[in-house]
Parts: sequence; C-alpha cells; structure tokens
Amino acid sequence: MTSVNSKNSVPFEASIPDGAVPLESILCTEEFRHRPWRAPDYKKENRALVALSSALADSPHTILQTLAETILNVTESDSSGVSLLTTHDGGKRFYWPAIAGMWKPHIGGGTPRDFGPCGDVLDRNCTLMFRHFERRYTYFLPITPLVEECLLVPFYVGGEAVGTIWAIMHDDHRRFDAEDERLMNTLGQFASLAYQTRASIDEFKFQVAEREKAESALRELTDALEIRVRVRTEELEQRNNEVRRLRDQLHKENIALRQEIEQTSMFDEIVGSSRPLRRVLGEVEKVAPTDSTVLINGETGTGKELIARAIHKRSTRASGAFVAVNCAAIPPALVASELFGHERGAFTGATQRRMGRFELADGGTIFLDEIGDLPAETQISLLRVIQEGEFEPVGRSRPTSVNVRILAATNRDLPAAVSKGAFRQDLFYRLNVFPIAMPSLRERSEDIPLLVEYFVERYARKTGKVIGSVERQTLDLFKAYHWPGNIRELQNVIERAVILCEGGVFRIDESWLSAESTSARADSLTATLIDREREMIEAALEATHGRVSGPGGAAMKLGMPRQTLEARIASLGINKHRFRV
Ligand SMILES: Nc1ncnc2c1ncn2[C@@H]1O[C@H](COP(=O)(O)OP(=O)(O)OP(=O)(O)O)[C@@H](O)[C@H]1O
Ligand SMILES: [Mg+2]
Repeated sequence: MTSVNSKNSVPFEASIPDGAVPLESILCTEEFRHRPWRAPDYKKENRALVALSSALADSPHTILQTLAETILNVTESDSSGVSLLTTHDGGKRFYWPAIAGMWKPHIGGGTPRDFGPCGDVLDRNCTLMFRHFERRYTYFLPITPLVEECLLVPFYVGGEAVGTIWAIMHDDHRRFDAEDERLMNTLGQFASLAYQTRASIDEFKFQVAEREKAESALRELTDALEIRVRVRTEELEQRNNEVRRLRDQLHKENIALRQEIEQTSMFDEIVGSSRPLRRVLGEVEKVAPTDSTVLINGETGTGKELIARAIHKRSTRASGAFVAVNCAAIPPALVASELFGHERGAFTGATQRRMGRFELADGGTIFLDEIGDLPAETQISLLRVIQEGEFEPVGRSRPTSVNVRILAATNRDLPAAVSKGAFRQDLFYRLNVFPIAMPSLRERSEDIPLLVEYFVERYARKTGKVIGSVERQTLDLFKAYHWPGNIRELQNVIERAVILCEGGVFRIDESWLSAESTSARADSLTATLIDREREMIEAALEATHGRVSGPGGAAMKLGMPRQTLEARIASLGINKHRFRV
C-alpha cells in the first residue's frame, strides 16, 4: 500500500461485524439493481471507445490506465481503477496497476486476494456494489478519501476473471446505476481484448528476447567450450609429441643397450669394453649378416683373425666352414694350388687331384690372412673369384664355381702398396668393400686390466695354479708399456709369467718387457726403428732372392747370425718366400 493519509480517515460510529459486509454488499447490489433506468449516452460511449482504441498500440499498462481514466469519465465517479491478481505467487494478492481520479496516488498498492471486495467479486464472478467497505476491510481505513459507494465488475482475460474494474464515489453527489455497470463491462471487454493482444505480443517479445538471451548464452558457452577443447587438444598434442619423443629416445636407448649387451655377450671370447673395441664390434654386428667382403687392417697381434671368426660366427654361413689361409706362409709358387687346388699331374709332385682352400670353404667363409703378401699372379685369380665366383684349379681348363664369402686381413699399408705397384688396385677396391681398422693395444690401454684378468685366469687354469690377484705395479707396468706385439705379446708375457708365478699374486719381471720408454716419442721411435729394420731385412732378402743362410745369404749381408735373422723375420711377420723367384 502506498500513500496512507490517516488525517482524512472517517471515524466510524459502529463497527460492522465479520461476515456482514458481503451480505450488506449483496443487499446493496440488490438495491443498486433497482435504481432507475437511464438511457445510454452512445455519443459519450463512442468517445470513450475511441479514446481506448487510441491506446491499443501502447503497452498493457497504458491500456489499463486509459481504461481507468475512461471509466472515471463515463461514470462521473471520483476514483476508478483496475485490480489484477498477482501472477508471480499464483494469485495471492491483488495489485493496482492503473488508478484514475482521487485515488491515483495509490497506484501500485494492493489488497489480499481472500479478504477484500475484489476477492468477493471474483468468488461470485459478478458485479458487486459496496458501501463503506473500509468498515469490513479495515486495512482500507488509512486509504483516503474513504469510500461512499463502490461498483466493481470482473475483468476477464482470455475468458478467465483475473481482476476487477472498479469505480468509487467518495461522497453522495451521484449514485451508480445499471448504465454505469454496462459501460464498465463494455469498456472492460474492449480493453481486455487489447490488453490480451498486447500482453501476448509482449509475452512473445519477452520469449523472443529470452530465447535470444539463451541462444547468446549458449553461443558464449559453446565458444568457451570450443576454446577449452582447442586448448586441451593442443595440450594433448604437445603431451603426445613429448611421449612420442620419449618413446623414440627410449627405443634408441634400448637399441643401443641391446647392441651393447649383444656385443658383450655375443663376443665373449673378445675381451674389452673400450670405445675403439666397441666401435669394431658394432661394425662386426652390422656387416656379419651381409655377404660383403671385409678387409681387416691392423698391427700384428691386434685380433684380426679373432674378428674374422666373429664375423663368420654371426653370419648366415655360421654352419659352413671357416677356412683360414695365411698367404704369407705359403711359398709363392704354391699359393695358386693352395687356394684353388690342382689336377693330378698338374706339376711335378702333383700325384693326385687336390682340393683348394676355396673349394673347402664352399658354402662358408674363406679368411685370407696377410693378403698383402699375395704374389701378383695369384692376385689376378683372386680378383676373378671375387668378381665371378669361379676359378680354374691348376692344370684344369674348366672353371669351377664356388659360393664363398671372402674376409681378408693385413698389417700392411695396402694403399701404399697399391701406389708402389706391389698390390693390384682393382683387387684392393674389391677387397676394401667394408674396411675394419683394428685398434692397437696402445689405443685401448683401458682394456689391459680386463685382458690381464682374462689371460691370467686362462693360463692359471691351464697350469692348475690358483692366482687370486694381480700386483698393482705389474698393472702399471703393463699400462705404461707400448705393446708393439699388441694382444698376442700381452698374452705371451702373461703365459710366461703364470708359469713362473709362485704364490697367489700375479706379477712380472720388468725386464720381460722391452726396455723402450713408453712415452709417445719413444713409441714413434720404436715404430720407426721397426720399420727401418723391416725395410733392411726385406731389401737383403730381395737381393738374395729370399736366401737367409750361407754365403751370399741375407744373414751374412746384414752381418748377423742366421738364427737371429730368422727370429726377426718371424717376429716382423715377413714372408721370405715372397722374394724367391
Ligand atoms: N680382444 C681380445 N680378447 C681376447 N683375446 C684376444 C683379443 N684380441 C686378440 N686376442 C688374442 O690375441 C691373439 C692374437 O690375435 P689374432 O691372431 O686374431 O691377431 P692378428 O691381428 O690376426 O695377429 P697377426 O697380425 O699377427 O696375424 C690371439 O690368441 C687372440 O685370441
Ligand atoms: Mg693373424
């Protein structure tokens, strides 16, 4: 309720008891019905209708306010208005959206649904006339001016009574009659239609607006979701890439680890874990399963034959033969017959047919050791075997074909021999398909402790000794020594030391190692001296056509005992037969 003016309150002499007002109202309405008839004033009515219709295009509120004002005008009352049931709470109250005349300040006020004149009208769904309803509904008392006579008709929307239209006389200057009721009903119906249309248009607009709001909220939500999905997808992609990268890395590490494990376990007879040795084993691993020719180069005693055997063992020919031929140890005249065999009577002494090493190796591997010592004419035949897989045994004109994999080794500088014309260039290229360079023991001295342990154990077992440890000083000596004979030399020194060893500690006599300094300078000096020695011996052998002893022999030429020269020739790996013509 708004605007309460108690100064204008009218004092009542007697209070009307509960329940009397509706009855009084019924009586009052009854009396109203018997009031004198009045002819309709159609002109006035038409004007009122025109006024109402001009408000049709406006809001529902304007329609109701125009209705209130029109009714005030046509009924010549003091106040008039519209009461509507509240919708938000299911119709518990009436509110006053439109009021004209003296009660206009009370717009927006209201009354309870179940206790008031409007409720009575809706309950009975008919016109009611009240006199001084504030006596029954005392909450009207502060609302001024007080009511002398009030006429109420139901207000319908869509056929349902949702409120009332009312007109009030605050004094007795005029009394309502049936013509007032008719006008209120007619104008009410007209306004109701307009109100209904407007209300549904507004409702429709509201729904459209709500829908648009919902749609834009949905769009915002979808956009936000899309962004989240995009961000999430990017995050996932990044994580996937990371997982892929880690997996690849793990895969590579696995391969590396597997290779390392395989190398150490597959080559159990090849001792050592130094980087140069692991490089060689990695190459063996790769080339073994192929049928490629391999050329192993390295100083004497570095393990060239061991590597050749490892390649064979790891190849598809492992179940076939491994035939090793030391080209330096065969007299040049016999090399061809050794390699390719000979027919009976092919030369003096050839009493029967003999299979050559190539035939023996058929289906397997042939290892041509010291290939640098191969005589020139055998180099051509070998080239043919490599190129065509066939050869002619000595004394036979029909070629024999074989399926042999060739592995070759040398401690010589083959490219230098090629440039000197001592080795065929085409053969060199045929052999050098997959070169493997064996590291010297000097280059892998970190393997010395492992090798010492391996050989000590091997020879201790062989001699039935129990050797529990290696003397620190011995190991230091080994590490400092330059090992011109590489692992073979180390192996020999250890074998000798184990035989002489007394007690459980392995040690060596320093004098057993060459007195050479182990410094790099001394190393290169030793190498130079050895090269010089080799050159001098080879020159002497060349001059004496390979003859060592006797007058005019190489020993005499060099001024040294025959046995010493023989020992040096063997130790330097010189093929003295090469010089015999
Ligand atoms: N890594 C190694 N682990 C264990 N023993 C080895 C290793 N390398 C070489 N040996 C041993 O050293 C000796 C010499 O090896 P191998 O005969 O293979 O050398 P090489 O290079 O062919 O020598 P040469 O040039 O004198 O013919 C062999 O008894 C071999 O078993
Ligand atoms: Mg060898």
